[in-house]
Amino acid sequence: MENIKLNIENAFPFVSKDSVNAYASKVKECMDKLHKGTGLGNDFLGWLNLPSSITEKFMDEVIAVANDLRSRCEVVVVAGIGGSYLGARSVIDALSNYFGWLQQDKKNPVIVFAGNNIGEDYLAELSAYLKGKEFGIINISKSGTTTETALAFRILKTQLENQCGKAEAKNRIVAVTDAAKGALRKLSTQEGYRTFVIPDNVGGRFSVLTPVGLLPIAVAGFDIKKLVAGAQDAEKFCGADVPFEKNPAAIYAAVRNELYKSGKKIEILVNYHPKLHYIGEWWKQLYGESEGKDLKGIFPAAVDYSTDLHSMGQWVQEGERTIFETVISIKSPKYKVEVPSDAENLDGLNFLAGKRVDQVNKMAELGVTLAHIDGKVPNLHVEMPELNEYYIGQLFYFFEKACGISGYLLGVNPFNQPGVEAYKKNMFALLGKPGYEKETEAIKARLK
Ligand code: PA5
Repeated sequence: MENIKLNIENAFPFVSKDSVNAYASKVKECMDKLHKGTGLGNDFLGWLNLPSSITEKFMDEVIAVANDLRSRCEVVVVAGIGGSYLGARSVIDALSNYFGWLQQDKKNPVIVFAGNNIGEDYLAELSAYLKGKEFGIINISKSGTTTETALAFRILKTQLENQCGKAEAKNRIVAVTDAAKGALRKLSTQEGYRTFVIPDNVGGRFSVLTPVGLLPIAVAGFDIKKLVAGAQDAEKFCGADVPFEKNPAAIYAAVRNELYKSGKKIEILVNYHPKLHYIGEWWKQLYGESEGKDLKGIFPAAVDYSTDLHSMGQWVQEGERTIFETVISIKSPKYKVEVPSDAENLDGLNFLAGKRVDQVNKMAELGVTLAHIDGKVPNLHVEMPELNEYYIGQLFYFFEKACGISGYLLGVNPFNQPGVEAYKKNMFALLGKPGYEKETEAIKARLK
């Protein structure tokens, strides 16, 4: 079995091999801090050995609940935001048939997402879509008090109960939340919903391999055992006992920190396949929330090529030289589509006749890489042999492990997100939430 492969050769015109290799001892210290639990944020290290601690029995429990929801629902709404939705969404988007929702003979429920925005029109259109449909809800919130998610859930729960009755609604709602704390735990106990627990020591953005990700992914019809198996293998090949030069998580953490030091303040995660769009969103949250603090941190951005070459390509090629790219490339696509020959050749494309579309895509990728290197954009490369559950599991764990190391190299606590509270405080003050009376007064005075 192959593994995902990291190639950093195209970083070396910009930083030296020696400077990256010099990180080996610092990376070891960071790795030790993670594994011994002696670093900042050490109460949030549950993700570190999570893959190897997941049992068959536990996955079977998740699958049993997923199958029950699948049998009851033609649509399942996954309500959650940030770490409570991006992992599930990234896997479901990556593995679903792009046009599957147009097919008549649906084997799997349609998965839709809510609670990740406060758009009134979004909720209105979702309610209209769900009208008359057999639907269910997976409500995911670790704190159990996140406004976006709680608000959507209140609206959807009311609609569900009106459509199928309170008793059946109980069977169609599953909550994923804290074991004891928060409004969602209280509500679930009172209403008698089935629940899964998000472990205390796993933060939202590291929680995709808990029921936060596993339950929706299983409901969508994907193989969570393969996903976990991929992460388990990555836990080994990114392990503390794997030497620096063979450890992709260690090398990635080192090279991106060295690039950052050399003035590359923005990392762009690039894909050449639209199905990876939400992997980019998941990765942005993982690195953005983990490293962007104490006035430090690489700004994580993501693009979908070749689409975005026609919008962002100019900036990447010739804008301010503060960026580097990390490309996720899929070695073998699932399907084969060949370019047909055309007797008239009016579009001039016969030079591609007989070639696979993926060959064109790969040459676009190579051409872009070379052009961007010429344009002084360092280029890191992560190859996935195929796009499936197993390799996504590897990719998740690889990025998580590298993120933990990278955050420690940067000198921040990669496992907190104090900055996220600032907007909430203002919003609650503006909305007059009980307990925020002083803030309400202050913000009103400020806005006068
Ligand atoms: O990574 C994080 O901690 C956050 O992005 C959370 O996942 C997000 O804010 C949602 O929080 P909760 O699950 O408490 O509703």
